Amino acid sequence: MIDKNLKIKANARVTRPSKRLNGGLIVIGISGAVIGGLYAVATPFVLPAFRKICLPYVPATTRQVKNVFKMLHSAGKTCGTLVDLGSGDGRIVIEAAKCGFQATGYELNPWLVWYSRLTARLQGLHSRANFQRRDLWKVDLSRFESTVVFGVPSMMPKLRGKLREELCADGVVIACRFPFPDVEPVKSIDEGVDTVWLYCKKQLGKSVRNEQSVDSSEEKNS
Ligand SMILES: C[S@@+](CC[C@H](N)C(=O)[O-])C[C@H]1O[C@@H](n2cnc3c(N)ncnc32)[C@H](O)[C@@H]1O
Repeated sequence: MIDKNLKIKANARVTRPSKRLNGGLIVIGISGAVIGGLYAVATPFVLPAFRKICLPYVPATTRQVKNVFKMLHSAGKTCGTLVDLGSGDGRIVIEAAKCGFQATGYELNPWLVWYSRLTARLQGLHSRANFQRRDLWKVDLSRFESTVVFGVPSMMPKLRGKLREELCADGVVIACRFPFPDVEPVKSIDEGVDTVWLYCKKQLGKSVRNEQSVDSSEEKNS
């Protein structure tokens, strides 16, 4: 009887540390998975800060989105091809698809691309709302009749050069929050953060100061 008790106690002494070890490994595993998950989710949102042109994720306000479509309608663009450069969570592309456009969003952040695709699918708009994980500087914009951009001031001169070369003859550009510097817009709507500006190809080739065609290398170098 005494022997049996001793054996049980001895076994307990042997198994307790290994249980503690297992518990520790589980905690380390869960912590690692949580930290790894957070890192994977957060990285694409932080990466833009390390790019030459930092274009962070800031979604358009509801009023801004309304202004974009008010402007497109006033420019006679009620359907056709549309692109949002840096499409974020897809709100402009999805609204465009609802209005009848064949809309494309180019976005670098994979989470935002997947979120946008899911939203479009859930709303039954996936045939008219297309999202691609692409760098906006590396895509050809010539097939789009309407281009929307909610950018940052530092990217606008370079983007002007790209659009001037690639925009189709009757293409229009809507800039949100930040206009193209030194370019006379066709029109603007609203004020402050919700301002949107309308440009056509001809306008993008002219400088406000001297009304002359500008050399495209000027923007490329900036
Ligand atoms: C200011 S947010 C605009 C979001 C959206 N267009 C809207 O109005 O709600 C800019 C977006 O551009 C994306 N972005 C930044 N650099 C990019 C690049 N080189 N190519 C494509 N997307 C980019 C960012 O991840 C971010 O989601």
